[in-house]
Amino acid sequence: MIIAIDGPAASGKGTLGKRVAAHYGFRHLDTGLIYRAVAKAMLDAGHPLTDEARAHAAAEALDPGAFGDPALKSQRVGEAASVVSVHPAVRAALLTFQRSFAHEPPGAVLDGRDIGTVVCPDAEVKIFVVARPEERARRRALELAGRGETVDEAAVLADILRRDERDRGRAAAPLKSAPDAHLLDTSDLDIEGAVQAAIAIVEAVRAGRKRG
Ligand code: DC
Repeated sequence: MIIAIDGPAASGKGTLGKRVAAHYGFRHLDTGLIYRAVAKAMLDAGHPLTDEARAHAAAEALDPGAFGDPALKSQRVGEAASVVSVHPAVRAALLTFQRSFAHEPPGAVLDGRDIGTVVCPDAEVKIFVVARPEERARRRALELAGRGETVDEAAVLADILRRDERDRGRAAAPLKSAPDAHLLDTSDLDIEGAVQAAIAIVEAVRAGRKRG
């Protein structure tokens, strides 16, 4: 089984993905980390993020062993990831890795922006996670502060809104809900509540498939 979780920046999809995967004993891939790794390689090398050929080469040379690098989680790298992910050549280079991850047994949860629409349009369960921008900024600011980054919540909110606009507006695989995705608004839910709601969606889909 493949579970696709998409949503805007800081909607909580990464935490949900991890928890839902653990619940079912599935593997989990936070696809944002892949774009962050490409962005960090570009920043480290001093290449302009708009250079599609170099970004494509960085995507081709990707080392999944580096996805655990805490530096990938910074605000700066997140913003840069949104810029490099606009390039169609970068997205195309990362597709095979994501699809092979998704199709390995026993099952997988992938979270990102285009999992239900482009990477795994055949996923059995698709969840589109949303939350009010102010709530997302509050959570992201807490998370960044916990990692030792100095943060201003208003600046985090501005960053999130700018990133959403770029991710939604790009031509290649923009952030959008698949027509058959289940909407999950976590604005007024804590982590446990959101996890239970996501599991309830998966169970409802499974029950429906058994009946059908
Ligand atoms: O989910 P995140 O904040 O780690 O993602 C960082 C950026 O990567 C996001 O702003 C856009 C890009 N991204 C993407 O284009 N497609 C995905 N499936 C995941 C992330």
